[in-house]
Amino acid sequence: MSKMIPDLENYFRGLVPSRDELLLELEKEAVQENIPIVGPVVGELLFILARVSAAQQILELGTATGYSTIYLARGCAAVQGRVLTLEHEDRMAQRARLNFARAGLDRQIEIRVGDAISLMTALTGPFDLIFMDIDKEGYLKALAHCQRLLKVGGLLVTDNVGFQGAYNFNQELFSHPHWRSVQLLSFLPQHAPETDGLSLAVRIK
Ligand SMILES: C[S@@+](CC[C@H](N)C(=O)[O-])C[C@H]1O[C@@H](n2cnc3c(N)ncnc32)[C@H](O)[C@@H]1O
Repeated sequence: MSKMIPDLENYFRGLVPSRDELLLELEKEAVQENIPIVGPVVGELLFILARVSAAQQILELGTATGYSTIYLARGCAAVQGRVLTLEHEDRMAQRARLNFARAGLDRQIEIRVGDAISLMTALTGPFDLIFMDIDKEGYLKALAHCQRLLKVGGLLVTDNVGFQGAYNFNQELFSHPHWRSVQLLSFLPQHAPETDGLSLAVRIK
């Protein structure tokens, strides 16, 4: 049987996708200010998922400085897709707006300020892809809205499902007949934290 590559974590650290100056700056700020961003591996995954699904309408829950939003917006640019992102801290939303303009993506991204779950009640969708990255205690409540807002066949990507606050969400997603899902325990360089769960789910009904 073929042997594993030794010291896999270091090996995969060497294969982290490259980023532009803006994303590198946001990563530096995240380290300095302890802002939990998805980092370059999940960022690239979001780009790929948005691109392969040709998502035209994307909803993001939890913007922070807009790092993950930029990956999503770039991923759906080929089909003139749009991203709506929800953030409850006004100061963060202001920073994200500036970053979207710096990335030349301000016409493609709309940010709304407020509690994501309250804001979702006013949305009608349908969305092709939803990325969830708010306080984990809100995941279960948000799931019902995701189910309503996502088209059948749409993709729900949820970060940080290794956190205790996501426990009930994980159980509900796992057992609900309207979803098929996988929970991946992953090594994610520069993600907060670097070993965490990531969930991918498709709405089937
Ligand atoms: C983990 S950070 C998001 C990081 C971002 N997705 C990235 O990777 O660049 C979570 C963000 O969601 C916001 N947040 C947490 N709970 C929220 C809620 N219920 N409604 C709206 N925003 C929320 C926080 O203020 C924080 O900026």
